[in-house]
Amino acid sequence: MTTLIDNPRLADQWHVVCEGADLAGGPVGVTLLRRHYVVWRAPAGDVVAAPDRCPHRESPLSLGHVTDGCLVCPYHGWTFGDGGRCVAVPSAQPGVPVPPKAHLAAIAVEERYGLVWLCPGTPAAKIPAMRWEDDPAYRRINSGVDEWSANTLRMTDNFLDISHFPYVHTGTFGIAANTQVPKFEIVPLDEDFAGYEYEVDVANDLGKSVSGLDAEVIKRRMTTGFALPFTVRSTIHYETGLDHIILLCSTPIDEARSYFTFVIWRNDDFTVPGEDVIAFDRAIGAEDKRMLERVPGALPLDNTATVSVQADRASVEWRRRLAASLAG
Ligand code: FES
Ligand SMILES: [Fe+2]
Repeated sequence: MTTLIDNPRLADQWHVVCEGADLAGGPVGVTLLRRHYVVWRAPAGDVVAAPDRCPHRESPLSLGHVTDGCLVCPYHGWTFGDGGRCVAVPSAQPGVPVPPKAHLAAIAVEERYGLVWLCPGTPAAKIPAMRWEDDPAYRRINSGVDEWSANTLRMTDNFLDISHFPYVHTGTFGIAANTQVPKFEIVPLDEDFAGYEYEVDVANDLGKSVSGLDAEVIKRRMTTGFALPFTVRSTIHYETGLDHIILLCSTPIDEARSYFTFVIWRNDDFTVPGEDVIAFDRAIGAEDKRMLERVPGALPLDNTATVSVQADRASVEWRRRLAASLAG
């Protein structure tokens, strides 16, 4: 059956598959849109990605190891360097050249915000800009990449949705009485993200070290928006002047499984350990994961296939734009 993830235009987008830090121990095998890739750090320090299949006898290269930045196949030791070029065939007699087909068909890869982004096709757009990345007042905290047994469309839909807060996030910041969602418009938030602005009262008991405020209930001014295909960004502004920005990245492994990672930027005084900040947001993510892993199947991209209300406007607009971009 042809599904959304078989759409070739999705392969022309950037997708997060791991963190740069994951490559320190050797090659990493990832699956994106049902295809397997090997990712490693080459001699010049650049990240290389290629199909996870040795051109010789098709061993998964991700089972190999990296020596001096070169990827060594675990089966017969063929060795691959910068850009996936085969630089050694150990069984060959001296002076015999490497067969031209021995080079790997490297795919587009970028390392940005501590994340490794792959584009198996021809990049049709750029990785969304996060203007806090180069601002010394902000620090970046990466969370690691998790695997969810959930459909990527459902995850992106969830991250754009605030009406689930009082039901799903009861263990972290959701307030049971706060169910009504104010009317909002979808506007450009900057060059890369479209979304909405709103104010929300949140429970603060678990988040005191994160917000820097003592009150039981605090107001957060927020924006939440999307960049196609599956990136969601929330900015949270506290009365103290603290900004907390979260980038949520979901990647289709296949129709039913996804990679999930989030990245945080904060202009705090850097005293709360990054791990503590991560722990709170991780707990929020775990609440979403618990819910989404119980929802079977893929979210239809066709907006008329599910019932939406005003509060779902961001997701409706995101799905409309995603469907248009994939239709060409
Ligand atoms: S299968 Fe990789 S070197 Fe033979
Ligand atoms: Fe949520």
